[in-house]
Amino acid sequence: MPDRPIAPQSREEDTALDRALRPTLLAEFPGQERLKENLGILIQAARQRSEALDHVLFYGPPGLGKTSLAHIVANEMKVNVRVTAGPAIERAGDLAAILTNLKAGDVLFIDEIHRLGRAIEEVMYPAMEDFALDIVIGKGPSARNIRLKLPHFTVVGATTRLALVSSPLRARFGAVYRLDYYEQHVLEQIIARGSKLLDVQIDPSGLAEIARRGRGTPRVALRLLRRVRDYAQVRGDGAIDGPLAADALSLLDVDPLGLDDLDRRVLKAIIEKFGGGPVGLETIAASISEESDTIMDVVEPYLLQLGFLDRTPRGRVATRRAYEHLGSAYPEKPDQPALL
Ligand SMILES: Nc1ncnc2c1ncn2[C@@H]1O[C@H](COP(=O)(O)OP(=O)(O)OP(=O)(O)O)[C@@H](O)[C@H]1O
Ligand SMILES: [Mg+2]
Repeated sequence: MPDRPIAPQSREEDTALDRALRPTLLAEFPGQERLKENLGILIQAARQRSEALDHVLFYGPPGLGKTSLAHIVANEMKVNVRVTAGPAIERAGDLAAILTNLKAGDVLFIDEIHRLGRAIEEVMYPAMEDFALDIVIGKGPSARNIRLKLPHFTVVGATTRLALVSSPLRARFGAVYRLDYYEQHVLEQIIARGSKLLDVQIDPSGLAEIARRGRGTPRVALRLLRRVRDYAQVRGDGAIDGPLAADALSLLDVDPLGLDDLDRRVLKAIIEKFGGGPVGLETIAASISEESDTIMDVVEPYLLQLGFLDRTPRGRVATRRAYEHLGSAYPEKPDQPALL
């Protein structure tokens, strides 16, 4: 993947700061108010009954806090968390080994759960529903099935692609929560907290400027904060205010709505190469030599949120707002016949 300094999905770059910033309790986690209220009730009820928490699934675009919430769940339940990911569990035996090592109440966090293999899913169904592990012992005619009992544990799943989680698997989660993009004032709080930890001086106009360009995503906003801090140190006196943040972010090609180079290339491709659409995602991806996964996970949800893109049965369409933002003339089309 080409280098994208502010790509919300790149995990390798999650630094010690990210970890330090990661809230550990629900009450320390800004934003996602409705989700927190529901999750809080779920947790409190389970704790009052001294039961394992029901299985929980978090979904939403990258960098909004799914992994953070998975750890918060374990922390609030005061249980251990075992972390794995869909693609990491290759054979049924790998999963069996993980499951048989869990203790009652433990959280098994499965990141990218939409990438679990079919055979692994088959093992998950009885494990999640009946806390049972079906294994085959021996080979050929003497093979027999035995059923092992598992402790009552909790699966916390996370995915950026709910649509790719099979419905039998989805049905085994007692609670499914969607994370939404953060409002500007919440991002400001998150950036303010980050600035304190980084020991950098920032005024309200600086907070607002970074938050506005943080595409509603804490991971992006915190990354922009680090880049602006570098700029302030090298080009200024270290303190961040609105104009300085705006200069630094323009230099990084992050525009006032938080669109970066890739977002603009996607929009431009739709508008300039495909007459505004409709055009399929794969076609867009191929035309700008990017991976369709990145476009689907990272670019598209934010453009939809901004109202720059419409999803139609025939493909993606750039809206009038997208044209205006890019300074292109919107083609006034005659009324098109309604689609059947
Ligand atoms: N509400 C929040 N308050 C403060 N920081 C947050 C919040 N949500 C996320 N973060 C920060 O943003 C970063 C990304 O969060 P996290 O890893 O939980 O996102 P994610 O949804 O799991 O992303 P991905 O889909 O890429 O796995 C973390 O470093 C975390 O510190
Ligand atoms: Mg994550």
